[in-house]
Amino acid sequence: MSSLIDTWSKDPSEEDGMTHEHAWIWREMIRCIPHSDLSDKRILDIGCNQGGFLRMLYDTYPFAAGTGVDLARDRIALAEAAKGSRPLTYLATPTLTDAGQNFDLAFSHEVIYLISDLEHHAKQVITLLAPGGRYDAVTCCHADNPLWKHWRAKIKTFSNIEVPSHSVAQITQAFRTAGFEVSVSRFLAQTPIPAEGPSDYFPSDLARIDTYCTWKLCFSCHRPA
Ligand SMILES: C[S@@+](CC[C@H](N)C(=O)[O-])C[C@H]1O[C@@H](n2cnc3c(N)ncnc32)[C@H](O)[C@@H]1O
Repeated sequence: MSSLIDTWSKDPSEEDGMTHEHAWIWREMIRCIPHSDLSDKRILDIGCNQGGFLRMLYDTYPFAAGTGVDLARDRIALAEAAKGSRPLTYLATPTLTDAGQNFDLAFSHEVIYLISDLEHHAKQVITLLAPGGRYDAVTCCHADNPLWKHWRAKIKTFSNIEVPSHSVAQITQAFRTAGFEVSVSRFLAQTPIPAEGPSDYFPSDLARIDTYCTWKLCFSCHRPA
């Protein structure tokens, strides 16, 4: 089982940059939500870090209540401090079932690649969702992405938790085994990709465009009604 940690990254700049760097991807995740009236919905963000996704979602489509969970205590403290008057609760816990129950929508962005036992994760998430609920797990970090070998070696140098390696087939199998109906989309295929030049993660803009369009996947997992 996972344990609580203070921060996910040993390098604060990796973690502090995520709110800004991930904002355009969170906007796309929000665009893919099938309904815009979330006023009676309960929302869960798994691996929320500093809480920015739920703040953005609430400011776009206000919802009834939102819960963010993460292993990283210090990041959850920052999320709590930044929530303002939004109906959000942030919890540092290694036990997903502490989050509550009857969520209509659950999300995780770049989290499932850090979870060793995906079958256990999927079995927990399905019990947290209301019948008919949906879990969108988004990741580009999987064994079918040609850049993953390089990314994994880099992430291992700063992650305070293990960095396993799952293929797309292993991810879909874990969610199906838990009882979800699973569909997968290349959800950045139509999205303008920021052209920021070469970086530690992408040797060129072309590599960034190809990788995001092809390998950034949204695993949409429906709990049957
Ligand atoms: C790469 S960060 C992504 C953070 C955020 N979702 C985002 O889009 O910026 C991964 C986060 O997942 C959290 N995490 C990893 N395994 C977890 C688990 N089993 N339960 C809860 N959080 C977890 C880490 O602590 C870290 O904050």
